[in-house]
Amino acid sequence: MKTYRIVVLPGDGIGPEIVEAAVAVLDKIQELAGDFRLSYDVHQAGANYYLKNGKNMSAETFEAIRQSDATIKGPVGLPEVRLPDGTEAGSLGGVLRNGFDLYANVRPIKLFPKVPTPLKDKSPESIDYIIIRENTEGLYASRGRGLITEQAATDTLLLTRKGCERICRFAFDTALRKTKGAPEDGRRRVTLVEKSNVLRSFYFFRQVFAEVAKETPEVEIETLYVDAAAAALITKPQHFHVIVTENMFGDILSDLGGATIGGLGMCPSANVGEERAYFEPIHGSALDIAGKNVANPLSQIRAAGMMLEYLGRQKDAALLEKAIWQALEKERFSISPAGQVEKGAMVVAAALKEELERCYEVRK
Ligand code: IPM
Ligand code: MN
Repeated sequence: MKTYRIVVLPGDGIGPEIVEAAVAVLDKIQELAGDFRLSYDVHQAGANYYLKNGKNMSAETFEAIRQSDATIKGPVGLPEVRLPDGTEAGSLGGVLRNGFDLYANVRPIKLFPKVPTPLKDKSPESIDYIIIRENTEGLYASRGRGLITEQAATDTLLLTRKGCERICRFAFDTALRKTKGAPEDGRRRVTLVEKSNVLRSFYFFRQVFAEVAKETPEVEIETLYVDAAAAALITKPQHFHVIVTENMFGDILSDLGGATIGGLGMCPSANVGEERAYFEPIHGSALDIAGKNVANPLSQIRAAGMMLEYLGRQKDAALLEKAIWQALEKERFSISPAGQVEKGAMVVAAALKEELERCYEVRK
């Protein structure tokens, strides 16, 4: 039986409670599928770890991730815990994303049934797009490198040909692989979100995008300035299929998208490179609700589903998304307008386990 080595980083704040729920769901899936095993290797990393050890991750943990098949990461960070340069000490993006060259950050934005959205008259089928956020350069290339004096501060945005080419290719592959096209018209479409009306770097990105697009003529293309894109994600989210964009723009737009589908607690992500990947919610450690049993674990659970897909377990991943859809449809648990769950993460996990049993039964 195939066994996958999975590193688990529970993280800070609500991290441990939502990771526990995700692992419970994964355990159920292994039991039901019956033909694969996950062996977990739990490591501490993040802001609490930094407080005790003066660094956010040990070399052993980094090495364990290098040797793993995939990593499940909970949210990390404590806003108060900062490096001498003033940035947050706990965030692991610099270590993991750049350390393993995980250049694609995949952020699906999908509205599930009965989940409250601030957008009026949006049906679940009308919001279903994926943001492909470039994950190793852009404005974040300046991470830890900006210059600051008494009078001024600067961070530099970097876009390389290699970086633009590979993220655009990844976006076109995603557009081909995604089961459905854009909700509006069923078309496969990649939208480049940029700011080339003002910045030359984005004109460069746009030219590379146009070149790479020629490799995939069956996918429609368009470009949109980021300010207009922010408006369009509110006024006509049904138009979008796959969005590709620079690192910081992708960070901002994915939170915006999250707000339209029941909050960030609904939002998983995959950080993918040529050889490794890790899977996490797009949100932070939400200290204000940690331990209160209201955190929505679906971000973490769906991230675990993205991991299954990455490991080649597409059917199990699809059945998990189906189980989540059905559990919400039947109101086996509900998401409040504030994006919280009523009885805690493990109640959500328990409902999903039952729903999964049904989904696997139907499949037999
Ligand atoms: C995200 C997060 C991180 C980011 C933070 C925690 C550094 O907001 O994954 O979107 O900005 O990339
Ligand atoms: Mn973010």
